[in-house]
Amino acid sequence: MEIDHKNIPKHIAVIMDGNGRWAKKIGKNRLFGHQNGVKAVRKLIEESARLNISYLTLFAFSTENWDRPKKEISTIMKLIVLVLKKELSTMMENNIKLETIGDLKKLPENVKSSLKETVNKTKKNNRLTLTIAINYGGKEDISNAFKLLLEKVKNNIISPKKIDELIINNHLYTRNLPDVDLLIRTSGEQRISNFLLWKIAYAELYFSNVLWPDFNEKCLHDAIISYQNRERRFGKTSEQIK
Ligand code: IPE
Ligand code: IPE
Ligand code: MG
Repeated sequence: MEIDHKNIPKHIAVIMDGNGRWAKKIGKNRLFGHQNGVKAVRKLIEESARLNISYLTLFAFSTENWDRPKKEISTIMKLIVLVLKKELSTMMENNIKLETIGDLKKLPENVKSSLKETVNKTKKNNRLTLTIAINYGGKEDISNAFKLLLEKVKNNIISPKKIDELIINNHLYTRNLPDVDLLIRTSGEQRISNFLLWKIAYAELYFSNVLWPDFNEKCLHDAIISYQNRERRFGKTSEQIK
């Protein structure tokens, strides 16, 4: 089956999972897995731009990932800085704009500055919005929105009666992103792991058994083709859709 270029998901989110198991399988340590995961990230970004996907959101580091061994955390942080440096030219060539979601305050200074710099340099690009979720948790996103909103209620900027889905949305890190159309998770795990809770309310879920470093263009095509063969009813009946 071929991709239908008239029905490309507007927003794809990816839980890039399985780096550690990929490495273990070939007798290497987990860090080697993360290093090889980087190549799959590049392939995914370039192919997404080529397919005219408007929004690609990648889960790079969760609020729970701080519980991993220190050495692994620092390797992931170093790789993030390296990728940003290496991929800046790819982002400029492909007209890709970088955004971040998550609480950046807790990140090492060099990661923060590298992120800010790349966001700034790519801010005029408008073909694909690439959002990196770092120190991101869906629950933290929602509780942070509560904090911001309640502060406004306290200061009489917003009346509690006015609070609706749009207002809540506008206080999330993900406020500028459309709802996710297709959520991909690799490595065979079938869970959300606290990713984008609000924006995946009506996402189509796609689970691949491929371990992240092996994820390539063909894997992305397979996910999109699966998405295109689903009927998205949004609460309506099948007859209403046709
Ligand atoms: C995903 O791969 C990458 C991050 C969470 C940063 P894992 O490191 O979770 O790999 P597995 O799940 O242990 O194989
Ligand atoms: C989710 O993967 C986080 C990222 C891909 C960054 P994990 O490997 O941390 O998720 P769990 O712990 O298996 O649920
Ligand atoms: Mg994992």
